[in-house]
Amino acid sequence: MVLKKSWWEGAVIYQLIPRSYSDGNGDGIGDFQGLTKRLSYLRWLGIDAVWLTPVFPSPLEDGGYDITDFKNIHSELGDLSSFHRFLQSAHKFGIKVILDLVLNHTSTLHPWFQRARWAPKGSLERDVYVWSDDTNRYKAAPVLFRKFEDSNWQWDEVAGQYYFHRFLHHQPDLNFENPWVQEQILDVLDFWLARGVDGFRLDAVPFLFEAEGGRCEGLPETHAFLQKIRDRVESCGRDVLLLGEAIQPVNEAATYLKEDELHGAFNFSLTAHLFAAVAGGSNKDLYNCLKAAQDAVPGCRWAMPLRNHDELWLGDGHLVPEKIIQMITTGLHQGHGHWLNWGINRRLAPLLNGDLRANRLLNALLYSLPGMPCLYYGDELGMGDWPGLRDRDPNRTPMAWTSDRNGGFSSAPDPLLVLPPITSPGYDYRVVNVEVQKQLPGSLLNWHRRMLTCRRSLPALSQGDFEILPISHPSVIVFLRTIETMKVLVAANLSAAGASLYVDLSRWDGARTREVLWGCEYPPANSSWFIYLPSYGFSWWLIGEVEEANLNSSSTS
Ligand code: NOJ
Repeated sequence: MVLKKSWWEGAVIYQLIPRSYSDGNGDGIGDFQGLTKRLSYLRWLGIDAVWLTPVFPSPLEDGGYDITDFKNIHSELGDLSSFHRFLQSAHKFGIKVILDLVLNHTSTLHPWFQRARWAPKGSLERDVYVWSDDTNRYKAAPVLFRKFEDSNWQWDEVAGQYYFHRFLHHQPDLNFENPWVQEQILDVLDFWLARGVDGFRLDAVPFLFEAEGGRCEGLPETHAFLQKIRDRVESCGRDVLLLGEAIQPVNEAATYLKEDELHGAFNFSLTAHLFAAVAGGSNKDLYNCLKAAQDAVPGCRWAMPLRNHDELWLGDGHLVPEKIIQMITTGLHQGHGHWLNWGINRRLAPLLNGDLRANRLLNALLYSLPGMPCLYYGDELGMGDWPGLRDRDPNRTPMAWTSDRNGGFSSAPDPLLVLPPITSPGYDYRVVNVEVQKQLPGSLLNWHRRMLTCRRSLPALSQGDFEILPISHPSVIVFLRTIETMKVLVAANLSAAGASLYVDLSRWDGARTREVLWGCEYPPANSSWFIYLPSYGFSWWLIGEVEEANLNSSSTS
């Protein structure tokens, strides 16, 4: 029996900020009109799905994660019709669309909040948010955005009470104890499901419910509500991804990945471990992290980002051990002047000090490990950032398309642009852009495309089982990805020094081996099979014969 795979298993997810991606109407702000025209580029690149950061009406004090209307499109991006046209086109290109949905809170400008603050204390309307007469409740819940807030409570003059906010003070937490709130959120899901979206990235899932005495994260009531969400999604009868954002250690993030809860969750612990591995040139902690993730939830349910629209979250020792944070801040990037709340506020390329070898290596690992690789817009070019902009804006600047005015992002005059395009040395949009890199065979962009093309022909990489192979080299990691009809061996050198080693392939003694990325034959498998990897080098080998049909089949479509 052939089991039907869900579209998202092993899918490559491309995250983009619609406001910063492509401006179709010349007002200086990216929109659906512009984005729709860029779908052919995304198809060319070879990604499977786009994840759009929030597209709803919002005062944009937190990049749209402060919503005022869950059932509409921000007027600067377009309207429900332009969204519909975008979605239809994306589907024609074979690209799935994931919406970012914020469940935990709204903007203070949301009509629900405005109604709540004027409603009598204790009334159902007031009860849509979490209120208190003092700030003593939920004391053990850490303040997440410590650069901007020093408490999770904010006094509201109109209400004459404090309201609870796990994030910024203008983002009051919804009160999920209130059945009306739950109904509204389920109704929002129905609304977008009916419009045909393929998935939701659920923002900040651990924080929905509160309770005294702990961090207010991942309470049983929160899991129960996520199960209701899953039921609602199942009832639409389509294969819709629920991808949870939980910035928690892998064993905690794994608790959301149940048969009746979320399909996928981000593995932020892996993100930190990948940077630490390159910082220290050592495989040990990375091995442990990969093993922990697979022990917790085997298969391809982890979403794996290197960077996203937030800082590189390292946390207070809760997400990853202090030692991992130190490896990054001493061996890779000290973060001086770039530290935001709990991490380093930089894009991938500058975070790696512009080292293209390390950049390719980390991306190659994402493309090889079990899970959903997440690529942040512009990182496929090695785009830079704009230190000095407010909050996380340094990482959210316009996509660089061409060497023309504003990097081809918009025809508007400079002062109207959503954010300034990058012109810093080494990252200037006149050099680092899609048009230029398409024409350079050795560019990072062409490298990504090549990797994705190759990956598509190797379904073992997107769907296969995962097995770490024991080796004695401290800087190299070697693993197998296998499906019934294909075995792919992966080796990656985490250090700047070259590495030579023997791998025990006696299980397949005498089988043909060939490197697939560069297309060369290796000696047949044996018990001490020799490989050499240059500085930050990596390779994919096929072991044994593979039916041609398998080599040509697409991995996720
Ligand atoms: C997580 C999002 O990734 C981040 O950008 C946002 O500020 C917070 N949730 C609050 O919604």
